[in-house]
Order: sequence, then structure tokens, then C-alpha cells
Amino acid sequence: MADVVFQTEGGSGGIVIDDDWPGYSLELFSYPTHYAGDLQCVVVPHGVIMDRTERLARNIMDDLGDHDIVVLCVLKGGYQFCADLVDKIKALSCNSDRTIPMRVHFIRLKSYLNDQSTEDLHILGAEDLSFLAGKNVLIVEGIIGTGKTLTALLKHVKAFQPKMIKVAGLLVKRVPRRTASLPDYVGFEIPDRFVVGYALDYNEYFRDLNHICVISDSGKMKYKI
Ligand code: HPA
Ligand code: MG
Repeated sequence: MADVVFQTEGGSGGIVIDDDWPGYSLELFSYPTHYAGDLQCVVVPHGVIMDRTERLARNIMDDLGDHDIVVLCVLKGGYQFCADLVDKIKALSCNSDRTIPMRVHFIRLKSYLNDQSTEDLHILGAEDLSFLAGKNVLIVEGIIGTGKTLTALLKHVKAFQPKMIKVAGLLVKRVPRRTASLPDYVGFEIPDRFVVGYALDYNEYFRDLNHICVISDSGKMKYKI
């Protein structure tokens, strides 16, 4: 794997959601009533996330099948994607000749306050990753924004000398002048807007929302710290 820029599977950066895509009206879906008025639109409905995740699981299986992997789930935003991705890989392992024995490890990163990335990145639960030495590692992230977080994490993980590192990211934001790392497996490429749901939060709110949605201005105000 290259140090800075990563190849995406099959040359695919995932399903591209254009900047001018208005999203789906919230009225077309069900969502928790406690978030009424806090959201602008649905960007990726839950069912589409699941379908895309199923395909990513197959791609991962095709590339890594028959090798043990250590899944490194990046909390908190990656927990739902990681759980569903691992489920889909498990289902494939039960229903084909190919199978991936998986271990799952959790680390926690925190760098956002409100909708802004802060400079201080905290990595928790990653102090001693020496068990990764010589292993195939699959890092699973919910969202890649600037890519700085992922770059810092990759540097940290590489120091423990795994045999191989692959990265799966459900969402990649199209940010201007990206120079940092991109995942090998991408669910969706989305506009540079703050999204919530499917474990992605705004100050810890909205993780309990199934769809990936754009937060409304009033939602930002309501939950601002
Ligand atoms: N939503 C939630 N968390 C995030 C985002 C986002 O759009 N970008 C980076 N972390
Ligand atoms: Mg967050």
C-alpha cells in the first residue's frame, strides 16, 4: 500500500452523490420524531447503505478471502458500518467455500467539535497494537472528511508492522484539494456537507438515526456546544 494515496477497489470511489443532489424529502421515510425539524433531507437511505455494504463485503472477500484479518473498528462513528460489514462478511463466509476468519478490535478517535474538525486528534484503545504485527488489518471508518484523521491513524497502525492494511470507509467527502489518504473500499462519495445518522453524530446526537441525513441549521443550533 502506498504511503499517501490509496487505490480504491476496481477503480471505484463508491457511489457518487453529486453536489446538486437535493436528497430525499424526510416525509418519504420514517425517522425518530425527536429529530423532527433537526434534519434537512435524507442523503442515503438505510436500505441503500445495507445494499452497498453487502457489495463491499463481497469485494473484501474477493480480495482477502482465506486470510485471517483483524478488523479495526474506528469508534464511535464507524460502529454501525463495521457491525453491518462484519455481518455481511460472516454471511458470505457461511455460504461459500471462501471464508475470512475475523477478529474485531475497537479504537476510538475524536477530533470534531460541533461540525468542525479540531487539531487535536485523540486515539484511545490503540496504545498497544503489537498484536497487529504480521497481520492483515482492515480499518473500518464511518466517514472520511479531510483525511487527516485517517492519515494519522494509518501512521500509528503502520508502526506496529502489520503485513497489510486495507481501509473501508462508508462515506468519503469530496473536499477541496484532498492530499490525504483515501480508503481502498468506499461506500459513497458525498458532497462536502455535514451529515449525521447511521452512527455519525453531531455532538453525540443523531447516532440513533438509521438514514444518513443532512442536519438542518436549526438542528445545528439546537445541539451546539
Ligand atoms: N458528520 C459526522 N462526523 C463527521 C463528519 C460529518 O459530516 N465529517 C467528519 N466527521
Ligand atoms: Mg463525531
